[in-house]
Formats: sequence, C-alpha cells, structure tokens
Amino acid sequence: MAETDAGEGGVPADRGPGGEAAELSVILPSFNEAANIPILVNLLDTALAGIAWEAIVVDDNSPDGTTEVARAIALSDPRVRVIRRIGRRGLSGACVEGILASSAPYVAVMDADLQHDETMLPKMLAELKAADTDLVVASRKVEGGTAGEGLSTFRAWGSDMANGLAQKLLNVTLKDPMSGFFMIRREKAEALAPKLSPQGFKILLDLVSSAGGTLKIKELPFTFRERRHGESKLDSLVTLDYFGLLLAKYFGDVISVRFLMFGLVGASGLIVHLAALRMFLLSGMEFNLGQTAASFVAMTSNFFLNNQLTYRDRRLHGARVLIGLLTFYAVCSVGVLANVGVANLIYADPAYWWFAGTAGAIMGAVWNYAASSALTWRK
Ligand code: GDD
Ligand code: MN
Repeated sequence: MAETDAGEGGVPADRGPGGEAAELSVILPSFNEAANIPILVNLLDTALAGIAWEAIVVDDNSPDGTTEVARAIALSDPRVRVIRRIGRRGLSGACVEGILASSAPYVAVMDADLQHDETMLPKMLAELKAADTDLVVASRKVEGGTAGEGLSTFRAWGSDMANGLAQKLLNVTLKDPMSGFFMIRREKAEALAPKLSPQGFKILLDLVSSAGGTLKIKELPFTFRERRHGESKLDSLVTLDYFGLLLAKYFGDVISVRFLMFGLVGASGLIVHLAALRMFLLSGMEFNLGQTAASFVAMTSNFFLNNQLTYRDRRLHGARVLIGLLTFYAVCSVGVLANVGVANLIYADPAYWWFAGTAGAIMGAVWNYAASSALTWRK
C-alpha cells in the first residue's frame, strides 16, 4: 500500500507556498538517498524560485530512513510530499506512481542523488511551455552535454551500446533514451501510463516507444554529475532487464517482459541440462537416471535465475526459497506432461515432427510460466 503525506497547516499538498496550484511537479524516485534529499530540496528551492513547484519523493521503503527524512521536510514545507511504497521495488514503477500522484500540468522526473543538474529545470519548463513540445529530455548526448564524471568508462560504453540498440530496434530517434532526467506534459504521460512496464529502470525509453512517434520531443544538453553520497542501484541484472524491455517493445508488447525473461531463462536451462547430462553420462550414470538428474539441475538453475531476474520484484527470501523451489519442481513436472501431451496430439505426420515438438514446448513454457507465476512467485 502506498501512503501519501500531506503538508501541515491546512495547505493542500499540491499547492505552492502562496497557496497557488503547483505548475511543476518534480518526481524524485529514491532508494537509500537519506543524505541527498535535504540537500536536493534546498537546491530545488533556489533553482525554482518564481515557479510554483512541488516535489514528490517516491521511496521504496529504504532501510536508510529516506522516507522519514523526507517526511520531516514535508512537515515544514508543504511543497514536499512523500509516497512510501512497501513490497514493491523498481525505478520505473516509482516514477509512474509519482507522475500519477501529481496534479500539475508539467511533471519532471529526476534522480534524487544530486547527479542531475537541477538548474536545468527552469530551462526545460520554458521549452515545454513555449514551444510545441510534449517532452523535454536532459540529454548527455547532444552537443554541449556530457556524461562528465558521472559514468565510468565501462558504463559509458555500455550505455552507448544500449542506446544504439534502442535506436535501431525501436526506431527511437532520441540521442539519449537512457536519460533518467526529463519533463513531460502530465496528460501525455498519463495517457501512456497503462502501457508502461513497472519493471526495470528505462522509464523514458518506455514512454517514447509506447507513444509510437506521437510525442513532440526536444533534447537539451546537460552534464551528468558525480555521485557524492550513497551508491548506484543499477547493477548488471538491471542491464538484462533492459534487454528484456527492448525485445518486448520490439515485439509490440504482445509478449510481456516477464514472459520473455522467463523464456530466456528457459533457453539457458536447456544448455545447463545438456551440460549436466553429458557430465552424468561421462561419470558412468545410466541414461534415464542421468536425464532425470540433469532435469533437476536445469530446473534448479532456472528457479534461481527466475528468482533473481524474472521475478526480482517478487523475489523469495529465506525459508520461502525452499518452498518456492519445491513448487517450481512440481509445476515443471506438470509442464513436461503438458508438453508431451500436446506434442502427441499434434504429431500425425513424421515429416512435421518439429512442428509438434515446438507446439509441445510452447505449451509447456506457457504452462510453466502461468503456474509458477500463480504458485511459486504469487503476489
Ligand atoms: N523508488 C525507487 N525504487 N527508486 C530507485 C530504485 C528503486 O528500486 N532504484 C533506484 N532508485 C532511485 C535512486 O535512489 C536515484 O534517485 C535514482 O533512482 C537513480 O538511481 P541510481 O542508482 O543513482 O542510478 P544511476 O546513477 O546508476 O543511473 C542513472 O543514470 C542512468 C544512465 O546511465 C539514472 O538516471 C538512470 O535512470 C539512467 O538511465
Ligand atoms: Mn545516480
């Protein structure tokens, strides 16, 4: 459940200090940013002088007490609101919730860790209001912008690769579709919200590709700053997630990111299976036993990969891992039956063995996916 903090003293939380309606909402997704939030609010206050603004901190129940720190500020400054999410994790989902909680006509999304230059905000707002523009992106990739000290060489390279892929696959003309710093007309974002994936961290790419060329976009250069307090949460798993989003968008959202990830994990399971089978056979095991043992090795590997990747937002911990593993074994065993059953039904002409085989495998995968999502990683 999300709870929202309103300001004190009878001033509705979406009003500026003078009681006027906020023109700009700044969404600040946060996870362990307790040291950064107070500094950032002060910086916003200076940078946004003369603009009726509000800040919405969307915190995923950070263990470092970010919510408490932000609430303490909200008590004396009604421009600051806090959405605390419990049992959910993820940058994109947090941004979407923040955007939906806003009532201002313009909404900015920026990192809460001081890496984004808040002095850009008035320029972005001016662009959005004056020109015929729906979305303004603070870009590290247009003339005058740099990743500065903010990105390591390795990450800069990875980020270039990811950009190139996004541009090719999704026909996204943005120079910096990875940027986490942008401002959009709220009604536009709201209209797209049903299409957005709460998983992953590529909210901008998701917005732009979901809009399918209907957004009028402008990119402004900015310099990405170095992080001072706390650490980055974007790990290599997040990168995998990103490729999932790319593929899902490419296939026009017919297939969900989660199912795609599940399928990729399943494919990796086949390799694990064959490697294990070979080892068992070499060690002198009889085939049927080896095949069964290899199935368990593959299911176990699939379970842990799915727990890390496919269901990272519902990840099982502690004793629930064991229960999860057992239900996963059960689900997959039925999956094998479904697979063989369907393949058998379809298999009529030996020339089309591959068709029956594929149909069976798809049936098995769909079953495994549906059942494990309902049982093993149930919400
Ligand atoms: N609510 C919430 N939930 N916030 C999160 C989560 C989460 O699961 N994960 C990260 N955040 C917040 C952080 O607290 C920070 O304010 C912001 O999202 C960005 O996270 P960082 O962990 O600092 O990301 P980064 O600096 O490595 O990556 C930045 O640069 C990338 C491009 O290289 C971000 O701006 C990315 O969006 C951007 O793609
Ligand atoms: Mn950061």
